Amino acid sequence: MSTADSKLTQTLAALGITSAEQVPSLFAALRTRFDTDAAAVKDEDSWKAHRDAWLGRKSGVFTLVTDNWLKTATPELKRAVGAALNELRGHVDAQIEARRAEVETGAATAAAARERVDLSLPGVIRPIGTHHLIRQVFQEIEDIFFSIGFSVVEGPEIETPYYNFEALNIPEFHPVRDDMDTFYLDLPKGAPGPLLLRTHTSPVQIHTMEKRQPPVRVIVPGKVYRRDNPDATHSFMFHQIEGLAVDSDITFCDFTGTIDYFVKQFFGEGVKTRFRPSYFPFTEPSVEFDASCIFCGGSGTAKSGGTCSKCKGSGWIELFGAGMVDPAVYGFVNYDPKKVSGFAFGIGIDRLAMLKYGIDDIQLFFQNDVRFLQQFP
Ligand code: FA5
Repeated sequence: MSTADSKLTQTLAALGITSAEQVPSLFAALRTRFDTDAAAVKDEDSWKAHRDAWLGRKSGVFTLVTDNWLKTATPELKRAVGAALNELRGHVDAQIEARRAEVETGAATAAAARERVDLSLPGVIRPIGTHHLIRQVFQEIEDIFFSIGFSVVEGPEIETPYYNFEALNIPEFHPVRDDMDTFYLDLPKGAPGPLLLRTHTSPVQIHTMEKRQPPVRVIVPGKVYRRDNPDATHSFMFHQIEGLAVDSDITFCDFTGTIDYFVKQFFGEGVKTRFRPSYFPFTEPSVEFDASCIFCGGSGTAKSGGTCSKCKGSGWIELFGAGMVDPAVYGFVNYDPKKVSGFAFGIGIDRLAMLKYGIDDIQLFFQNDVRFLQQFP
């Protein structure tokens, strides 16, 4: 126990204080000691210890002074001790409160400094995804057709046989349906049906003509579904862009010019185009549209010599089906076949993308292998 502390546990009489004149110096020493203690307070913990040392009920300085000096003081000394004690208490209370405020502000400042957001630091860079190549090709094709006045429409992926087949001039027992062996939906008993996943985007031709009068100039991007076994060029879900232009005076020439323009924009000016006769129940005449092979320049010979594997030496690559809209289709949408004419086409986007970007397996589009996808940022 220090000398100062040992004084606190003794009575004034034991300390040899017998007159009021001796009291002020006794309390002055105590105040000096308090001020020294207070100056050492740095943080919340030391502040609490300091407060308890002076104001603690059991053995705080004030309790000791009250018990040992005041209560035991002679009546002559009591007044002087009481006054000095009160004065010291006022000082101590005020200082302890002031320290508390300082400690709190200091802690808040430290916390603010710790939590300060440094806006000059570089941010967290998260990898940003890109559009899938198929989406990019959709966009490329849409932009080309926008530039010649087409607009985009979309239609449902779940269709009735009427829109997917009948209104496209494909009656129930038409052999073309065999090629489009389809996914029919299991419907609850009593539900109106049947319904199927559309096998091509052509049903949207019908939806569009039902809603609009000519002139019509639309393209229809979307997913389609067929029960095809997956291989390098077949998928059970793939993408098409349908095109439809109907007006009072659209000719086969407009049709070929439009297709030629599209192919040259998409593959480059050097590409040649050609038609081959084909058959679709909803176009007449119908054609398959070919472009000169972009890999061998149409020569049929690979750059390294030998037969070009992409066009198998023919110099041509089949791109898509198309034709002039069959007048029978106009009957389903209340257009007058004597007054309107038009053309339609259906492009398989996946195969077109494979051709343009030199991809040899359609399955790569759907496997979500980031190493593949990252090659088309
Ligand atoms: C049709 O789907 C017609 N609706 C296209 C059409 C529209 C003709 C308008 C006339 C007028 P086709 O079955 O040939 O046609 O398919 C069109 C294209 O889809 C094909 O050229 C091919 O690129 C693509 N395709 C067909 N089946 C698959 C498949 N299983 N996987 C990936 N692509 C396919």
